Amino acid sequence: MRTFNILIVEDDINLNRGLVHVIKKQGYETSSAESGEQALQYIRDKSFDLIISDFKLPGIDGKQVLKAAKKYDSNIMFIMITAYGTVDTAVSAMKEGAEDYIMKPFDMEEFKLVVKRTLEKKALLIGNTRLKGQFKNKYTVENIIGASPSMAKLFKTIHHIKDSITTVLIRGETGTGKDLVARAIHYNGDRASKPYIPVNCAALNENLMTSELFGHVKGAYTGAVSDKQGVFEAADGGTLFLDEIGDIGSGLQQALLRAIETGEIQPVGSFKRKTVRARIIAATNRNLEDMVEKGDFREDLYYRLNVVTVNLPPLRERLDDVGLLAFHFLKKYSAQNKKQIDKISSGALKMLENYHWPGNVRELENIIERAILFEEDSVLSVQSLPNILKKTVSQKPRRNINSLDHMSKNHIQEVLETTGGNKTKASKILGIDRSTLYRIMKRFKI
Ligand SMILES: Nc1ncnc2c1ncn2[C@@H]1O[C@H](COP(=O)(O)OP(=O)(O)OP(=O)(O)O)[C@@H](O)[C@H]1O
Ligand SMILES: [Mg+2]
Repeated sequence: MRTFNILIVEDDINLNRGLVHVIKKQGYETSSAESGEQALQYIRDKSFDLIISDFKLPGIDGKQVLKAAKKYDSNIMFIMITAYGTVDTAVSAMKEGAEDYIMKPFDMEEFKLVVKRTLEKKALLIGNTRLKGQFKNKYTVENIIGASPSMAKLFKTIHHIKDSITTVLIRGETGTGKDLVARAIHYNGDRASKPYIPVNCAALNENLMTSELFGHVKGAYTGAVSDKQGVFEAADGGTLFLDEIGDIGSGLQQALLRAIETGEIQPVGSFKRKTVRARIIAATNRNLEDMVEKGDFREDLYYRLNVVTVNLPPLRERLDDVGLLAFHFLKKYSAQNKKQIDKISSGALKMLENYHWPGNVRELENIIERAILFEEDSVLSVQSLPNILKKTVSQKPRRNINSLDHMSKNHIQEVLETTGGNKTKASKILGIDRSTLYRIMKRFKI
């Protein structure tokens, strides 16, 4: 079960305890504050889905708590408790952004109902309509779907770091949304109107990558027929996204470190250094600590990049988000394919929620996209889901038992079996390109 995190702010100690008791019984995480000051402390330290606060508090009142909470994280839902006969207080709270209010005296059934209604709204709103219209670009937080606590924490982190120039390192397994998050940080921040330049560091050999990053002058090497600007310069004032940073060679690691440290670059074949002010976001699915240990990744560069780390949880650790994501992709791909599939059968949903998702969100997206093509009804059914999911339906996901590598290897082998060894088909199902599949197969000696 997914748990919401709720803060109760009420100075009447008996009522406070009563509310905490009711909320806990519903299976939600609960914190309780007896004053506005204490509430603000909590809001700063923890991540909440919902705050339920009395309006009348000694010192900082409920309205100030509401304002502070919404300023801190506009995703936090808020229910104001007001006294009988103070409708104007309730109205002004709603104007300030409270989702709902409840008037004293109330009974606990009524209270539970208001909480349930607000949390349902929260589940729908997260990553969905909240920011609609606010940003024209398609890469906003609204496209990142997730209601689990780890995702709520992620939204909060994005909010904190979006405007800063600090280097960010995004980590997570393949398909967890690193690319999506990098774009969200850029397009929600101050630099949104400046360039966002993504570079895949694994795509080119070291020489070509050096010139890609820093540019070159005419005649720098055979084939350099004119000056070429590097991506560092192209991203000036904006964001440079260095994807697969764990895959760059040692010479380039050193050059990159120097560029980040000095804010200057030197195009290949040029004596002149240029100042560049691009924000660096790097991403990797590799274990950089291991690589540092083995001497494959420079420790100084590792520390340079690792100023702020954003860890993306694998989907199997937030299986409660599977339904939400599945509906999101269902909507997207049924519209794209001009189909009217708007529901998922409970059997199919269960099957999706029981799977261990080694390819993470990308794998889920691909499975839904494919299922929509096969589905003839208006409800996505078990029949249109691939066999690979059916295998795991009766057993619990094999979480935390095997190492990740072991799980990935098994999974890839299973997929290859179902495709009769066809790598193109297998890479489609896995949601990776063929060259990545070859690389992984080589690594795992499949
Ligand atoms: N939380 C999410 N909400 C909605 N879509 C998501 C989410 N996470 C990932 N996706 C989608 O899943 C796909 C894979 O995500 P993305 O490319 O960002 O993964 P990645 O971590 O960069 O993977 P890789 O390491 O293989 O490059 C994309 O189509 C992305 O839009
Ligand atoms: Mg990526």
